[in-house]
Amino acid sequence: TGLTQEARPLAGKKVVVTAGPTRERIDPVRYLSNFSSGKMGFAMAEAVAKLGADTILISGPVSEKVPENVHYIPVESAQDMLRAVENEFPTADWVIKSAAVADYRPAVVHSKKMKKQPGNAVLELERTTDILATLGERKTHQLLIGFAAETNDVETYAKEKLARKNADYILANDVSEEGSGFGTDTNRIHLFGKNNHYHEFPQMTKSALAMDIVRKIVELERERQ
Ligand code: CTP
Ligand code: CA
Repeated sequence: TGLTQEARPLAGKKVVVTAGPTRERIDPVRYLSNFSSGKMGFAMAEAVAKLGADTILISGPVSEKVPENVHYIPVESAQDMLRAVENEFPTADWVIKSAAVADYRPAVVHSKKMKKQPGNAVLELERTTDILATLGERKTHQLLIGFAAETNDVETYAKEKLARKNADYILANDVSEEGSGFGTDTNRIHLFGKNNHYHEFPQMTKSALAMDIVRKIVELERERQ
């Protein structure tokens, strides 16, 4: 019925959400990572599940509780996340890339604990695969929603990511702003869509914001059809 459509506009859609940081191993006791708490990604998964989507949440290590009616796939590294996302991608309708994926990993992973030496140490890093850009090259029918964490020039960088990664929407936040970004319970998001679409959401809790973002994208997608 029309009512069910309004309450559960994503019923029948498969949505893949990624969240959290990744961990890139240096040796058996050490890793490189970032301050992502997973809160925004978990809130996005909760929102799409509430709106009826068949929801898969792929996340790096976080301490958030898995939302109801969400299928959870825990991963560790950027490479693990890439593989898990690739498995789900062919049957996905939407992919929401909230994860703070490491851009670099140690070029060599030591099998034994590295012992300290006198003087400074140098760690050689190699680039990880850009998961969102990889999906952007392969997409057939999927809607791709990326995030952009910036400390300056939000609009310029967000638009550049939208184009470079062939995404449909980029949700950008200024992580240097008070009440925004890593670890906070609130966030302020700027939505950039293809065709120069722009929408700014007021600062609010990540769970309320996630619901508003998903509803806004549902509405924009309806208008496009
Ligand atoms: N992303 C990804 N795979 C990576 C790096 C980033 O899928 N290896 C995704 C993120 O999940 C996010 C989007 O790309 O949805 C933008 O991430 P961000 O770190 O802001 O952009 P980068 O392209 O990595 O550029 P930079 O960190 O230099 O700003
Ligand atoms: Ca990055």
